[in-house]
Amino acid sequence: MSVEFTNPRARHAFVGRSCSITGVGSYVPARVLTNADLEKLVETSDEWITTRTGIKERRIAAADEFTSDMAVKAAERAMAMAGVTASQLQLIIVATITPDMPFPNTACIVQHKLGIRNVPAFDLEAACSGFIYGLELGMQFVMSRTYDTVLVIGAEKISSIVDWTDRNTCVLFGDGAGAAILQHRENSAGLLTSVLGADGQKADLLSMPGGGSRCPATLESVAAKQHYLRMTGKETFKNAVQAMCSAATEALNRCGLNISQIKCLIPHQANLRIIEAVGSRLGAKPEQVFVNLDKYGNTSAASVAIALDEAVASGNIQRGDLILLVVFGAGLTWGASVIEW
Ligand code: UT7
Repeated sequence: MSVEFTNPRARHAFVGRSCSITGVGSYVPARVLTNADLEKLVETSDEWITTRTGIKERRIAAADEFTSDMAVKAAERAMAMAGVTASQLQLIIVATITPDMPFPNTACIVQHKLGIRNVPAFDLEAACSGFIYGLELGMQFVMSRTYDTVLVIGAEKISSIVDWTDRNTCVLFGDGAGAAILQHRENSAGLLTSVLGADGQKADLLSMPGGGSRCPATLESVAAKQHYLRMTGKETFKNAVQAMCSAATEALNRCGLNISQIKCLIPHQANLRIIEAVGSRLGAKPEQVFVNLDKYGNTSAASVAIALDEAVASGNIQRGDLILLVVFGAGLTWGASVIEW
């Protein structure tokens, strides 16, 4: 679809240099953990998990497979699609809440594993919203002509912070990584706009209390399970639907678009009921909405990155199509991006 963007809030119109995603790639670990496997771990059932979440299985990284390893595999695939080599990268951003270690940042470890040195590399922490925060940030550097080629990765080993005795959370999450290469491409509008938001007042709805300066690791903090992810599910659900709908609507409005012009809506893959509620409130047809959470569960910052890669690989999205990414996560944080593919 060819759309002429006359709305001045499509930012390339201001700065004269657009930023496109020229390559995407993803990676998920080989080990599959099914709902039937979880029935053996906690008091749950395939029926409950399927009807309440839509998840059938998720991937779990090996003990010696870290967030950086998954990030590198996704990055290599994105670089291959974009036709760039590691030596061309000028900035590496890794969105994650499960870094290899508190410091140094995972992006530096990724840089080293890609065999390059000296380019800036940092992590970004916006939980499940991290990939869109990263896209927006990376785009600023390309549009401002600071850098020509930026690598943005969403990668998580969420299995490392899941309490495998808590049925409220352990059935929901999975591991994986997705990556994008950002570059200017002639005659393409690329990333048109991103709406980002946050509400720290609701930080307690979804958090991991231990491991930071407030609650450093002690024998007591470990015994009290402070180093596991915690979530108040119902409240998080309500906030997710509300925030994703309003971010997506604002993003469309900024570009002067309506939902029928969007080829593919790619929402954060946390719960099928959230995805369906967001899709129907936005007026999207079911065939416009991309869903893969049945295979991977909620992979946090990797979620929309993996989904974008799979949507592109499936042939669902052609160059020139308009897509809408929308995310929500701990913080609370949220965001929506409109992209001309
Ligand atoms: O990535 C960031 C964004 N994350 C999200 O947006 C997730 C948002 N929340 C959700 O997806 C849903 O709230 C959940 C899937 C987490 C829970 O679904 P729900 O419909 O809100 O269920 P609930 O928390 O109200 O629990 C209903 C019942 C409870 O039993 P009682 O207290 O009514 O007797 C739970 O104990 O279901 C029980 N339950 C389970 N039963 C079987 C909770 N987890 C399970 C389970 N298996 N795994």
